[in-house]
Amino acid sequence: MIDLGLSGKRAVVSGAGYIPERAGHGWFTSLALAEAGASVACIDIDEQRAERIAGEIVGRGGNAVPIVADMTDAVQVGRAVDDAVAALGGVDVCVDIIGGATWSKVEDFSTQAWDATIHYNLTQVFYLFQAVTRYMIAQRTGGSLVAIASVDGIAAATYHAAYGAAKAGVISLVKTCADELGRYGIRANAVAPGNVGSGNEDQPPGEYAVNGINPLAAPRAHDIANAALFLSSELAARITGQTLVVDGGATSRQMWGLTESMIPSEPEAALGDFMRPGPSG
Ligand SMILES: NC(=O)c1ccc[n+]([C@@H]2O[C@H](COP(=O)([O-])OP(=O)(O)OC[C@H]3O[C@@H](n4cnc5c(N)ncnc54)[C@H](O)[C@@H]3O)[C@@H](O)[C@H]2O)c1
Repeated sequence: MIDLGLSGKRAVVSGAGYIPERAGHGWFTSLALAEAGASVACIDIDEQRAERIAGEIVGRGGNAVPIVADMTDAVQVGRAVDDAVAALGGVDVCVDIIGGATWSKVEDFSTQAWDATIHYNLTQVFYLFQAVTRYMIAQRTGGSLVAIASVDGIAAATYHAAYGAAKAGVISLVKTCADELGRYGIRANAVAPGNVGSGNEDQPPGEYAVNGINPLAAPRAHDIANAALFLSSELAARITGQTLVVDGGATSRQMWGLTESMIPSEPEAALGDFMRPGPSG
């Protein structure tokens, strides 16, 4: 049996609740961490959602506490992390789920929408990582930080420029945290989901290449949770500063428009040209 090393660990999940019709990354990640043996502080801006996920974990025999806070507010972030540490007796794992896009063309983006989107997707991650890191350094027991980025921080974020720029910022932030905090045994990584949409949990297993985006299949919410779980676990003990892309292959698509019909009927003939000695040899 493989030990994930999470039994008895103390985890903070920011944005742990579930909103129907959305992906449910907080919900699935909180459940996965609890199932691996961690106690989970389920932080959410909505009291009912925080209580629902914490109750679900407890109902399944795990340990969890609900904490209500607006995690875009630095003061509330500090208070929520204080409360989580007090309730759990420390913090070893931190996963930030919160984020969302605003849509507009580059030439139309308002400064308010830009600022709010950067704050919601990037600045609040910094607030949380900073607050948790201070505890982890004092504990001297290392730790793991994980943020949910997006493939939009790697490729173009067409019509949602601020979101893509913020997620690229998250991908950069985990590298800086990895470099600065490695000396304390603290790791920092990100998960970059592809088109999870509203969860894809109803996607039939075993169906591949059914859309033009994913050569394999669209990722599901629990695939993202598994990636966050892996990066939080001892299996990733020497992985830091990385972004794990979970996109069913979307960002690995070729850029040539090549199709099978373009393969030459006699590929060996082309190899013959290549092997033929040139003027000098
Ligand atoms: N769904 C996708 O296709 C996709 C793709 C790439 C990346 N992502 C990323 O996934 C994350 C969102 O996942 P989701 O749709 O499952 O989450 P969500 O938007 O449903 O939110 C999860 C929880 O966070 C809580 N929350 C929101 N704002 C908060 C705040 N200010 N303070 C505290 N709690 C707050 C909500 O109440 C909710 O319970 C984002 O980071 C998003 O960028 C999603």
